[in-house]
Amino acid sequence: MTTEFEAVERARDEALARVGGAVTFAELATVETEVLGRRSVIVEMRKALGGLDAQARRSVGQLLNAAMSAVGDAVVLRRSAIEAVERAGQLEAERLDLTEFSPQRRRGHLHPFTAAWERLEDVFVGMGFQVAEGPEIETEWFNFGALNFPAGHPARESQDSLWVDWGEPGHTLLRTHTSPVQVRTMLAQEPPIYVVCPGRVFRQDTPDATHMPVFHQIEGLVIDRGISVGDLAGTLDSFVKAFFGGEFSSRLRPSYFPFTEPSAEFDVRRPDGSWLELGGCGMVHPNVLRAGGIDPEQWSGFAFGFGIDRFALTRHGVEDLREFWSGDVRFLSQF
Ligand code: PHE
Repeated sequence: MTTEFEAVERARDEALARVGGAVTFAELATVETEVLGRRSVIVEMRKALGGLDAQARRSVGQLLNAAMSAVGDAVVLRRSAIEAVERAGQLEAERLDLTEFSPQRRRGHLHPFTAAWERLEDVFVGMGFQVAEGPEIETEWFNFGALNFPAGHPARESQDSLWVDWGEPGHTLLRTHTSPVQVRTMLAQEPPIYVVCPGRVFRQDTPDATHMPVFHQIEGLVIDRGISVGDLAGTLDSFVKAFFGGEFSSRLRPSYFPFTEPSAEFDVRRPDGSWLELGGCGMVHPNVLRAGGIDPEQWSGFAFGFGIDRFALTRHGVEDLREFWSGDVRFLSQF
């Protein structure tokens, strides 16, 4: 009897030790079959109970049952201990430190077009202008009609405009310039008006080194009493000096736009004496004032508009406009 008891206790302790030594789920599974499976010492001992007398069978049997459930409990405990360790390891491995900071990491910056756009806004706001905006999808009326474009003007033809398939054919388009914001501003507010309108414009152009079908312009509009060409020239010259520097100056050359009369191109003179063609300008045409609900007998004004993207191009000495649209960080991070 004592030898049987001792054998059961030894088998139990050995099984408990083996369970306690299992480190992974796989090890524990192997150990479990070995100590509780059909060929395990404990189960073999149960099979051998039949050879004992009735009393011994009962007491050794009880001891064996207790041993089996002790080992079974140990397996369950061991499994949850392994689980906890594995989960902790996984959490550690997958940990993301959101407070991590590396001073060497390069920070992003504004796209050169956006930087030019914001600098232009800053200079005009400093001169007392407000910033106005208009929609990129426009009606034919605001883009052309209200701006005094004669019917059949070449710029209305489809080779320049990107028409939108919405409403009547020839009614809706992607604005070809920021000038429609002039009329929208006049309709939205009473004079005096001093606004600049930066924005994205669209023309049906094949991309090349100097053209893109999408580009940016900034429009200026001043409406007040007694505004003259002298005010236009003086404002543009102040802008040029504020934006480029005191050594720069400007000039106007006669030109034609349907929405201004007289109209001019304005150029910037660099300190080395070379000229940069900037954009168009002129005195707002009376028909445009009327389309904007403003009485041309009482008010007069001027407007100007020029491309923004070229600033970034010349400023950074980039040859090909398309580079700025590449989205290639290696290119953009140079600026
Ligand atoms: N809208 C004209 C263009 O896109 C520029 C311009 C604006 C000219 C305002 C005169 C006055 O070319």
